[in-house]
Amino acid sequence: EDYELGEFDDYMRKEIAEQPEAVRRALRGRLDERFATARLGGLGMDARELRAIRRVKFLGCGSAYYAGQLGAALVEQLARVPSDAEPASEFRYRNPVVESDTLYIAVSQSGETLDTLAAVSELKRKGGNVLGAVNVVGSAIGRECGRGMFLHAGPEVAVASTKALTNMSVSFAMLAVVLGRVRDLSTMDGSRIVNGLRELPDKIDETLAREAEIAEVAARFAAARNMFFIGRVRGWPVAREGAQKLKEISYVHAEAYQASELKHGPLALIDPDMPSVVIVPDDELLAKNVSTIEQIKARGGPVIAVTNAELPDGLADAVLRCPRTEPELDPILLTIPLQLLAYHVAAALGRDIDKPRNLAKSVTVE
Ligand code: G6P
Repeated sequence: EDYELGEFDDYMRKEIAEQPEAVRRALRGRLDERFATARLGGLGMDARELRAIRRVKFLGCGSAYYAGQLGAALVEQLARVPSDAEPASEFRYRNPVVESDTLYIAVSQSGETLDTLAAVSELKRKGGNVLGAVNVVGSAIGRECGRGMFLHAGPEVAVASTKALTNMSVSFAMLAVVLGRVRDLSTMDGSRIVNGLRELPDKIDETLAREAEIAEVAARFAAARNMFFIGRVRGWPVAREGAQKLKEISYVHAEAYQASELKHGPLALIDPDMPSVVIVPDDELLAKNVSTIEQIKARGGPVIAVTNAELPDGLADAVLRCPRTEPELDPILLTIPLQLLAYHVAAALGRDIDKPRNLAKSVTVE
């Protein structure tokens, strides 16, 4: 292995703990207070080129895809540039329309994922403007893209990505600020996000300090064979990533659903044996999310709320908390308790956390 385990039982737990430091590294030298923006020199684009971008598309596999979804939301909110994410694995097979004023971002921890690399080649063949968001310097995707942003998460060994994913999200927040500040994002809002990012490592620390509570909740729910992960808007990529983590390492069936879609089908599955993990950011949709929890409870479903808001007493059966940050950055912080939830469910079930069955850290075949 690349580096020592030290006091930790496994790499996933070590990498979870390393997140505050990893985020500090990603931010180092990149936050620009004076102009209320970020500096991402690796993009190799000046203000005029940045302004010419009409759309941003993130491509990645697994957690890198979910991080891209989170990034797309940040780009839309802060820069008001249409943005979405797509699994890189499907991209080349659907003969994609490649637009010259779209910025494509290939997202990959390892930089070696074959599907993502193939998407990059397809884009380049069709003249697409593609850059990389990769963790491993000198990796195939990094080289093929030739420019982009390095994630600076440090080596990641556990199959389930934690610190690399967090650094992806943090990097995309900086990208969103960069794109926003050459458009309509005000100095005030730029500063608000820059400060929010600077405070993030300490807030991740505060979240990690609640591990014992999270482990206790995980032990209570570890016997469940199925779990829903429910989120709306900002909470949606968080729910998807949370479900992914749980299934990867605990083998508990987890399904992510958009809160508003619950009533269009999956509500039929709610019963006392189907816990729902509901993501509740402290934002303008708080009341909606509270009513989602009430709807699940009314059908006898247990609820674990993951939140940085003050929820009415007794609303949820368990509450996993993290501190408040800027609303746009909430998803980054809300992901952290879900890593620990998945970790402790897997630990309670005695799983091989770093090397889950059937999975590889980086998939270099089709
Ligand atoms: C594999 C791993 C996932 C990871 C995905 C993308 O499927 O099991 O945990 O998210 O590859 O990896 P990458 O290195 O491209 O980020």
